[in-house]
Amino acid sequence: MNSLFRKKSITDMLKQSKQKSLNRSLSAFDLTLLGIGAIIGTGIFVLTGVVAAESAGPALILSFIMSGLACAFAAFCYAEFASTVPISGSVYTYTYATLGEIFAFLIGWDLMLEYLLATSAVATGWSAYFQSLLKGFGLELPAALSSAPGAGQGGLINLPAVVIILLITALLSKGVRESARVNNIMVFVKLAVIIAFIAAGIGYVKPENWQPFMPFGFEGVVTGAATVFFAYIGFDAVATAAEEVKRPQRDVPTGIVASLAICTILYIIVSLVLTGMVPFTKLNVADPVSFALSFVGQDRLAGFISVGAITGITTVLLVMLYAQVRISYAMSRDGLLPKGLAKVHTKFQTPFKNTWLTGFIGAGIAGFVDLTTLAHLVNMGTLAAFTLISIAVIVMRKTHPNLERSFKVPFVPVLPAISALFCLYLMSSLPGITWIAFFIWIGIGLLVYFGYARKNSKLNEGNDSSINQQVS
Ligand code: ALA
Repeated sequence: MNSLFRKKSITDMLKQSKQKSLNRSLSAFDLTLLGIGAIIGTGIFVLTGVVAAESAGPALILSFIMSGLACAFAAFCYAEFASTVPISGSVYTYTYATLGEIFAFLIGWDLMLEYLLATSAVATGWSAYFQSLLKGFGLELPAALSSAPGAGQGGLINLPAVVIILLITALLSKGVRESARVNNIMVFVKLAVIIAFIAAGIGYVKPENWQPFMPFGFEGVVTGAATVFFAYIGFDAVATAAEEVKRPQRDVPTGIVASLAICTILYIIVSLVLTGMVPFTKLNVADPVSFALSFVGQDRLAGFISVGAITGITTVLLVMLYAQVRISYAMSRDGLLPKGLAKVHTKFQTPFKNTWLTGFIGAGIAGFVDLTTLAHLVNMGTLAAFTLISIAVIVMRKTHPNLERSFKVPFVPVLPAISALFCLYLMSSLPGITWIAFFIWIGIGLLVYFGYARKNSKLNEGNDSSINQQVS
């Protein structure tokens, strides 16, 4: 029984990470951009439309504030952990040190819902803007190749979504340094586009569009918050890069908090401008941000926004896929997943095979599942991870009071407790079918844990001699 809750020693883990099998090349600035690169994407560019039209109305801004708050609490918890245990694997690793192996395994398994499915979800949003850009040039993909089956548009496969994931996989498999540089350039383009939208759109705001403010009541605002939560996901991915950062204790918390703060401010302004420009009932489109500009006659700018959105969403893909690979890399290094996933390529210094395997699975899902279904699952997985990390902060303060923490969550245990409850509240307003899928996924995870991971764990007696062995 005890072995279920066996924990990794923090000292061992720090030692292991010092063996430096990954290349330490990222700075605080890179991390903030990595965060923004992961955050601003399909959520703000695509999901805002359907949420405004069907759940929140002009009160979209309240949905954004509510889920932004949930993220801010969780971000503090991530920052504290990242400053204490700057090791690849993020919340998975933190849980391994505090709550024990079975929780760590399940959270790692749960994070696949977040990062792997987010890769697929985000690629679907990319595909929507790509197709809207093609339409601007009078081109159209055959319906069969343009969307997943079941989205009601006669699609068989979402081909653009599949292709973009494979391209990103090729880029990532070649190395983080190149990828971070590409990411930095694209993030600047994305910020320019968002600011251009705000600057151009603000003059077209008609306050009467904000009436009625809450057409679907407060319940609609909460449902909206549980969906637009997707737009904030990504700041946590910064923590998964900890082993590739030059000064992780200081730089990772900065990257997490700075990227979330910048995006929250932008989202609040965008949601105000968007719902002020267009009556909310008309926003149920796949490309609401460029649609709003076309709606007020700014067609050329709308085209520019589409190009920027495509660029912006590409960086999200980059970070999500990167994060997924690093999580399974960390789990495999601990023996909880097959060893091959932790193999580092001698030339590129990346988990090359792992990257391609992940890319193929993500591409397969993106081809055949629709955006809303994916986004709900991603949100469920992420909120579950946020709940656990909030609890883990409280546990860690009790079990390891003397560890050096360069960043501390204020008001422990009150703030992390509020954070956990807030996340559970948002989870409770996700659809029943999402809950069922979530439990099935966790059930499969338990089978894998008891069938494979528990025996092969490096913490298992007999396996522990290899705990500090470098995987090559
Ligand atoms: N926050 C990311 C996006 O909106 C996942 O695309």
